[in-house]
Amino acid sequence: MPSLLLSAVAVLATLLPATLAQTHTDCNPLNTTSCPNMPALSGNATFHFNDTINNKIWKERNAGKHDWSEKGYTFTIDSRGDAPMVQSSFYMMFGRMEVIMKAAPGQGIISSAILQSEDLDEIDWEFRGGNQTEIMTNYYGKGNTTFDPSRGKEFVKANAQSDFHNYTLDWTKERIQWWMDDEMLRELTPDMALGGKNYPQTPMNIRMGIWAGGDTKNNEKGVVEWAGGETDFSKAPFTMTVQQVYAIDYTKAKEYSWENMDASGSFEKVKIIEGDSEVLEEIQKPHGVKNRWTALSKTAQIAIIASIAGFVVICTCLITFCCIKQRRAGRREFAAIQANQDKEAAELLEYKRQMAQGRFAQGNYI
Ligand SMILES: *[C@@H]1O[C@H](CO)[C@@H](O)[C@H](O)[C@H]1NC(C)=O
Ligand SMILES: *[C@@H]1O[C@H](CO)[C@@H](O)[C@H](O)[C@H]1NC(C)=O
Ligand SMILES: *[C@@H]1O[C@H](CO)[C@@H](O)[C@H](O)[C@H]1NC(C)=O
Ligand SMILES: *[C@@H]1O[C@H](CO)[C@@H](O)[C@H](O)[C@H]1NC(C)=O
Ligand SMILES: *[C@@H]1O[C@H](CO)[C@@H](O)[C@H](O)[C@H]1NC(C)=O
Ligand SMILES: *[C@@H]1O[C@H](CO)[C@@H](O)[C@H](O)[C@H]1NC(C)=O
Repeated sequence: MPSLLLSAVAVLATLLPATLAQTHTDCNPLNTTSCPNMPALSGNATFHFNDTINNKIWKERNAGKHDWSEKGYTFTIDSRGDAPMVQSSFYMMFGRMEVIMKAAPGQGIISSAILQSEDLDEIDWEFRGGNQTEIMTNYYGKGNTTFDPSRGKEFVKANAQSDFHNYTLDWTKERIQWWMDDEMLRELTPDMALGGKNYPQTPMNIRMGIWAGGDTKNNEKGVVEWAGGETDFSKAPFTMTVQQVYAIDYTKAKEYSWENMDASGSFEKVKIIEGDSEVLEEIQKPHGVKNRWTALSKTAQIAIIASIAGFVVICTCLITFCCIKQRRAGRREFAAIQANQDKEAAELLEYKRQMAQGRFAQGNYI
C-alpha cells in the first residue's frame, strides 16, 4: 500500500518540531521542581544589530559564525554542524516582537525567528532556504509535537531571501497575530489550539538563528524532507541577517517564577515577582563612549575635563623639566667634546710643528 506509506512519511515530516535545532530547555518546569527565575523585560526596547551585541542581553549559542556589519547581525553556516543562534536573556509574558530580517538561501537551510518558553511553548516564523517565496508560521504548546494539520501554515509572499522584511508576532492571552510588514497573515485564538491546552502562554524569550535541516548526517529522513531536501555544503556559506529587533513585554515585573507551576503549564500559575527589571536597566545603560559621555552630568563632565587638563599640565611640566635637564647634560657633554677637540687641535698643531722641524732636519740629510 504505497499511498498509505507515502502519507505516513508526510505525517512524519510535519510532526517534527519545526525548529529542532533551536528547540531546547535548560530546565523544564513541568517536571522539574526548581527551575530558575526568568528576568522580565518589563518594558520595550529596540536593538539595532549594526554593532557588536551586548552579551548580557543576547546569548550566542551553537557552532557557526556569529558576526555583524552595518547591514545587521549575521548567522552563517560555513560547514556541516554549524547552527548559530542567539537568544535573549530577557523573557516576556505576553508581548510583541518585531524582527527586521533577511532569510538565508540554500536547500535544507532553515532560518527562524521565534518566541519560546522553558516548558516549550513556541511561536514561530520560519523560512526554508530552498523556497524563495514561502513564509512559514507555526506554534506549539508545552512541546506537544503530535501531528496537527492546523498548526503550521505557509504563505506565498515576496522574496524573503533577497529583501529585509518586518516579521511581527503580537501575543496576548486572547490571541496571537503574525504580521509580515503591514499585513496580518494569521491570527490564532486559544479555542483553535486544543481548547487552549496547546496555546502558548508562559514567559518566552526570543531566539533567532539558522540550522541545516537538510543535513543527512544529523537528521532523519523526515526532517530532511520537511526542510526541503538535502543541503549541499559545498554551496556554503549560507547567511541569515537580522537588522533590528523591537520587543515589548506586556507585563510589568522584575522576574517571572515557576514556583507555583504544575503540569497544566497555565499562565495563571506563573508567579510575577514585582520590582524594577534589571535587564531593562542593562539595556537602557548607555554603551558607546559617546553615549556614556552625553549621559554624564555637567558636573561630572567638568570634573573629567578639569582632571584631563590637570594631567596635561603635569605632563607638560614633566616634559619641560626633562628637556632642561637634557639640555644641561647636553651642554656639559658639548663642553667636554669641545675641550677634547681643542686638545686634539693643539696636539695636531704640535705634531705639524715637529714634522716641519723634522723635515727641516731631514733636509739636512738630503
Ligand atoms: C520532562 O519533560 C520533557 C518534555 O516532555 C522530557 O523531554 C523530559 O525527559 C522530562 N524530564 C523528566 C526528568 O521527566
Ligand atoms: C517604551 O519605552 C520607553 C522608554 O522606556 C517609554 O518612554 C515608552 O512609553 C515605551 N513605549 C511603550 C509603547 O510602552
Ligand atoms: C546603527 O543604527 C542606528 C540607527 O539607525 C544608528 O543610530 C547607529 O549610529 C548605527 N551604528 C553604527 C555603528 O552604524
Ligand atoms: C514554495 O512554497 C509554497 C508555499 O508552501 C509552495 O506552494 C510552492 O510550491 C513552493 N515552491 C517550491 C519551488 O518548492
Ligand atoms: C497534543 O496535541 C494533539 C494534537 O493537537 C492532541 O490531540 C493531544 O491531545 C495533545 N496532547 C496532550 C498531552 O495535550
Ligand atoms: C513592523 O510591522 C508592524 C505591523 O505592521 C508595525 O506595527 C511595526 O511598526 C513595524 N515595525 C517596524 C520597526 O517597522
